[in-house]
Amino acid sequence: MKQQGLFITFEGPDGSGKTTQIQLLQKYFQQKGLRCLLSREPGGTEIGEKIRTLLLDKAHTEMDFAAEALLYAAARAQHVAQVIGPALRRGEVVICDRFVDSSIAYQGYGRQLGEVVAQINRFATGELCPDVTFFMQLAPEKARERIKARKCDRLELEQLAFHQRVFAGYQQLEQAEPQRIVAIDASGSIEEIHEIICERMEALLLCR
Ligand code: TMP
Repeated sequence: MKQQGLFITFEGPDGSGKTTQIQLLQKYFQQKGLRCLLSREPGGTEIGEKIRTLLLDKAHTEMDFAAEALLYAAARAQHVAQVIGPALRRGEVVICDRFVDSSIAYQGYGRQLGEVVAQINRFATGELCPDVTFFMQLAPEKARERIKARKCDRLELEQLAFHQRVFAGYQQLEQAEPQRIVAIDASGSIEEIHEIICERMEALLLCR
């Protein structure tokens, strides 16, 4: 591996199996003797976790969409500066549950804020881009079914039409950047999906 680390992100709706796959991928790297840091957004730092609480609180029904997009970007700026950037400079593997693509899908497409979301995120991240992004593809109706038993956050409680726009947003992103974003059918078994992810990682590690 080159000196610089490897930045991997997972995207997709809640209930698409991201957490399980992230944990399996961490084991995969650990077995190779590589240091691997797991993190999530919004969150990953003390400041970011406080912003997360603000963002996901169901009581905040009055939150303005621009304020929402800026809060996600603020949490991300802190995360990149304090955790992700330093780990990548140390040459570590960083796996993050959600990153800029979430803001583009949820705020850009879901909230219909458009291109400005990418702009504020370029500023927030210093244009840091993942080496590879696994998009766990699951239709919004199916995702909703899977998370029925869970306590939903403010975003998850949104109408189906919102989640359909988010899904369409992810698909647009995947079409625009097929070399980075790997779409995976999230209805496959845990083992099948892990195998697809490992194959992609092997190919990526060979090129480094
Ligand atoms: P999580 O449940 O996957 O931790 O994500 C929290 C919620 O925040 C989830 O409903 C997706 C949403 N979200 C955004 O709307 N924009 C973002 O930039 C991120 C990172 C998450």
